Amino acid sequence: MSAIEGRGRRTARAVSEASARRAPSLTVAGSREIYSAQTQSEAHLRAAPDRRRGFVSPPARAASLALLLAAAAAVTLGEPSKTSVFNPASTPAADIHKYSLFVFGITGAIFATVFTLLVVAIVRFRRRPGDDAAEPPQIYGSDQVEIAWTVIPILIVLVLGLTTARTVFQIQGRAAPEGALKVTAIGRQWWWEFRYPEYGIVTANELHVPVADGAKPRLTFLRLESADVAHSFWVPRLAGKTDLIPNRVNETWIEPREMGLFEGQCAEYCGTEHAKMLLRVYVHSREDFDRWVADQQASSATRSEVAEGRRVFETTACLNCHTVRGTVGNGRYGPDLTHLMSRETLAAGAVANTPEQLRAWVHDPNALKPGALMPAMQLDDRRLDALVAYLLTLR
Ligand code: CUA
Repeated sequence: MSAIEGRGRRTARAVSEASARRAPSLTVAGSREIYSAQTQSEAHLRAAPDRRRGFVSPPARAASLALLLAAAAAVTLGEPSKTSVFNPASTPAADIHKYSLFVFGITGAIFATVFTLLVVAIVRFRRRPGDDAAEPPQIYGSDQVEIAWTVIPILIVLVLGLTTARTVFQIQGRAAPEGALKVTAIGRQWWWEFRYPEYGIVTANELHVPVADGAKPRLTFLRLESADVAHSFWVPRLAGKTDLIPNRVNETWIEPREMGLFEGQCAEYCGTEHAKMLLRVYVHSREDFDRWVADQQASSATRSEVAEGRRVFETTACLNCHTVRGTVGNGRYGPDLTHLMSRETLAAGAVANTPEQLRAWVHDPNALKPGALMPAMQLDDRRLDALVAYLLTLR
């Protein structure tokens, strides 16, 4: 028997002796078990004082609770996060925000009522020394009470249900007005393809739209498709989540009232790199949006000093998956690279689109985004440098 085991057995014996000495004779068997368990743990604490190390004193507990509440308040009242649903910047998100405040109001009132009654019951009717163990008087068959606790919850559920239905139909029922921008978003493992059929533009991961202000606000309607598994389009400040389902077309729309960058995320687990399937929506003024469209519509010309890099692109497997308009590369499986360098990020928002990151990405995509479906092309340094130099000219 080891020394530790021996000490353990002696402690156990001390505990059972201590509890045997202290166990009072109670009439209710259950209470005796609880009571004796309490005395056992007290005896155990005395036998091994260092077990009290994990013990938190009531003032310390109150202080940590206050700290926790202060932190929660700071999070709630401080600078809202870039993806906060409580800071909407577009119509469907604003409708959902309004609706959620209403639901929070009702459920908050229920919580406050129940919690208050619970605290009153615990404090006022707690067990006191000298109480008899008799059951308190029971109430049966009060029609008023039965009706109240049946009718009130039915009314609450009805109000919540009708409000939910109204918000859902309001958002889903919106038809694309004349002149709305139409974009097809295709979810892929693990990036987004955005197609602008009226402009002949194809881009990836970064959606550009005009701001919807002025006398004739221009809304953006998105047709959502999936090329593989289920994904979900979610830019919290612009709209609620809408899934992208294989063999089905879903729709959503946004009416952004503010310019700027709005971030989002695929919100449906879609495989290994689901977490690195980020969304970026750039909301521009009308003029800036038109300029962006014109830039994207232009074909990229190849400068003579990067001709070797273009040759590498056109003679490796790159072109099976990627398109660069004006070259033989017209693959559809990966992002369109015609204006690769107009994008701020690579690999669906995983890293910034810098020359170093681009080189690292082409050299070994799995190092930046493990599980990425783009293979490492095993290029030697000279060919890799030439290819990256060429890609850097795709503006
Ligand atoms: Cu796509 Cu998660």
